[in-house]
Amino acid sequence: MESNNEKNLLKTTKKVFIFNKNRFNSIHNNEKFKNLNQYNENSKLKNSIDFLSSINFKNYSSFYKRNNLDNFVSLRNNLPNSTSKYKYPLSVDTWDEKELLSINRVVMSNRFTFGEKVKEFESSFAKHIGSKYAVMVNSGSSANLLMIASLILDKNINLNRGDEVIVPALSWATTYFPLHQYDLNIRFVDINKDTLNLDEEKVSQAITKKTKAIFAVNILGNPNNFETLKKICKKYKLILIEDNCESLGAKFQNKYCGTFGLMGTFSFYFSHHIHTIEGGMITTNNKSLYHHCLSLRSHGWVRDLPRDNKLYKKNKNKFKDSFVFILPGYNLRPNEINGSTGLEQLKKLKHIIKQRRINAKYFKKIFKNVDYIRMQKEIGISSWFGFSIILKKHLSNRREEVLNILEKNGIETRPIISGDFTKNPVINLMKSSIHGSLTNVKNIDKNGFFIGNNHINLKSQLDFFKKIISKIN
Ligand SMILES: Cc1ncc(COP(=O)(O)O)c(C=O)c1O
Repeated sequence: MESNNEKNLLKTTKKVFIFNKNRFNSIHNNEKFKNLNQYNENSKLKNSIDFLSSINFKNYSSFYKRNNLDNFVSLRNNLPNSTSKYKYPLSVDTWDEKELLSINRVVMSNRFTFGEKVKEFESSFAKHIGSKYAVMVNSGSSANLLMIASLILDKNINLNRGDEVIVPALSWATTYFPLHQYDLNIRFVDINKDTLNLDEEKVSQAITKKTKAIFAVNILGNPNNFETLKKICKKYKLILIEDNCESLGAKFQNKYCGTFGLMGTFSFYFSHHIHTIEGGMITTNNKSLYHHCLSLRSHGWVRDLPRDNKLYKKNKNKFKDSFVFILPGYNLRPNEINGSTGLEQLKKLKHIIKQRRINAKYFKKIFKNVDYIRMQKEIGISSWFGFSIILKKHLSNRREEVLNILEKNGIETRPIISGDFTKNPVINLMKSSIHGSLTNVKNIDKNGFFIGNNHINLKSQLDFFKKIISKIN
């Protein structure tokens, strides 16, 4: 039951909002303003600022407090969301009141920028995944950037500008861009048609004298065969690194993906296994690389380095070390809201992955005897980001028609990441080479797409999908 006080507070807050909204609209629609050239972006911005600053923040912040969170959550759940038109959407929010409460605590603490919550999330994540160190950044793309930057800048690591790195021709754009940005030569290799991950045989054939690293990407939750990849790396003295941005929770030989290489990366973008609004993580067991990441994440300064680092001898005097820069860094820091929501999400991860695997089991069961699609072949234990579909037999080369029918029936679809990344115009700006013919990636580009998986039971959605696709003849 709401108290009278709370009811009044709610009323006042609503009134203030309506009053300001009307005021904003009337200014916006005023003919005088419309005719004025000066009514440009600046004045729009000024109006918005006026609007915001006139809200009674004191009332607003007490309205947005723990006791009222139930109202807040139900309000939020009723908001129209972009995927609501789909019967079977790609993704479903993994947040509930726990994450909202944690944000609320950050709001009340008045500490928003990088701090204790992020550090707490980093150590919980490292422990969970089985890695010595974890560094959180503001996205999976930033994690890839920081990983490559640290490998190039750390003098103990044998990866230098001009060296060659083997990558699958199927991945997200920001797997590749940091390689280009650090003057590495990108060597694209085809994928295995069943697993959608690097074809290990082709990897071995693609190695040249200049090759120094293999950058494996675990596609849609599916682990690479790390036993084979590690053997190849050992034989040719190559560094192994992992983009695990879409495969949190995946395991190979009872070990979490993201921990097989010298470094691994993760993304916590919405629609991924867990989300922190935006966010990413780098994991490593290498102390020197860890220290490089700490500095590179924050302007390249020394402030975040522990005393025992080998990059810089710290002064006893804190002031002297406040603005000392040792590496050409960035500002890729996450904030406390990312950290606190990450902590809540991590507590749910086990359940999230479990349900995703139950859904996958059902998906595999109902499509087992079907000859018109190829499913992804699981290596190790996948965390099933989504369900990839490669059209075959009578559906082969009819993807557009199939996608239109699915869309009309409320089933949301996406391409399998980039498809053939090498067809993108950006390739002309990058130093790269292609090994062989990329046959399997090109087939995905023509016949592949994926449908969603998430932490709720999808039995009826999967049945519905099967009913629709099986009718296309
Ligand atoms: C394989 C891969 N790498 C990197 C990224 C980038 O992550 P973010 O969107 O958090 O920047 C993604 C995003 O989905 C991805 O799938």
